[in-house]
Amino acid sequence: MFLTRRALGVAFSAGFSIVLAGPVAAQGQLTVYCSVQEEWCRPMMAAFEKETGIKVSMTRKSSGETYAQVKAESANPRGDVWWGGTGDPHMQAAEEGLTEEYKSPKLTELNDWAVRQWEGSKGRTVGIYSGALGFAYNTKLIAEKKLPEPKCWADLLDPKLKDEVQVADPNSSGTSYTMLATMVQIMGEQKAFEYLKALHKNINQYTKSGAAPAKATSLGETTVGIAFLHDHVMMIVDGAPMKAVAPCEGTGYEIGSMSIIKGAKNMDNAKKFYDWALTPAAQALAAPAKSFQVPSNKATPIPPQAPKLADIKLINFDFAKYGSSDERKRLLAKWDAEVKNLPK
Ligand code: F6P
Repeated sequence: MFLTRRALGVAFSAGFSIVLAGPVAAQGQLTVYCSVQEEWCRPMMAAFEKETGIKVSMTRKSSGETYAQVKAESANPRGDVWWGGTGDPHMQAAEEGLTEEYKSPKLTELNDWAVRQWEGSKGRTVGIYSGALGFAYNTKLIAEKKLPEPKCWADLLDPKLKDEVQVADPNSSGTSYTMLATMVQIMGEQKAFEYLKALHKNINQYTKSGAAPAKATSLGETTVGIAFLHDHVMMIVDGAPMKAVAPCEGTGYEIGSMSIIKGAKNMDNAKKFYDWALTPAAQALAAPAKSFQVPSNKATPIPPQAPKLADIKLINFDFAKYGSSDERKRLLAKWDAEVKNLPK
């Protein structure tokens, strides 16, 4: 059968309008860069898809890695929302104009620490959870190797722990950058770098992801792992022979954050995700995924397994200073030059 040009035009436009009316085209899509654990990223994206019909394409990368990707793509952004990861690279991205200003109607429901993150970044990032840094040891290995149980940051320098400690690389990992900034704030910069150089002798591996040392501790691949306490708890609830420690000198903490990427191709959907991610219903998806951070919406129940921040000696972390572009770049360059490749 031959169709006239006019009939072809009608057929084409009819087909085209059917495509537009179909569920995917009507609700559209969203690209999310996820910087929490894969176990939490997946159910979060699935729940948003189910609720809105918006098709989510998700990539999981560590905080510093995602920052680098957002920066590298800034001329032609491919991501829409950056959800999760420590606040410092979100703050750096905000300062560098890589992320978008947005005031969610949900802002009024959040804890002060989450709103302060928003204010400090001039509305370009917001707090979604919080958690304290610490370390954990494998109780079986400590007993078998007859090693003393570490309780303080200082204990991790014990020569008996040579090659027994694991932490991430602060360039890729927000966890490890939080540790670097914590040490500088507890000890002062000179002593902090002396500490990190001494600790280097005991490090068996600088991993890419911040939570990897917690997993390695659970598997007995390292005796001690430095990570956020909630990442250790994630292993402990599964029965890993581990003890999590809030170091005696005090410790730093994170304000896990979320930002909309500047020039996002799916801006309306990015804002929908952002608002939804701040609701108690969305934040409550963390606990079943064994992610025991403290949620930012005041109405989200705090999982009973979440390390109690009030019981931990927390430092007065200066998020503005250590999230600033100059300071973050400077400290990372110094760590690369003075610590990373130091012979043991
Ligand atoms: O999801 C676990 C978690 O520790 C978050 O609390 C944190 O923001 C993120 O991972 C940090 O990951 P990384 O150190 O790999 O950047």
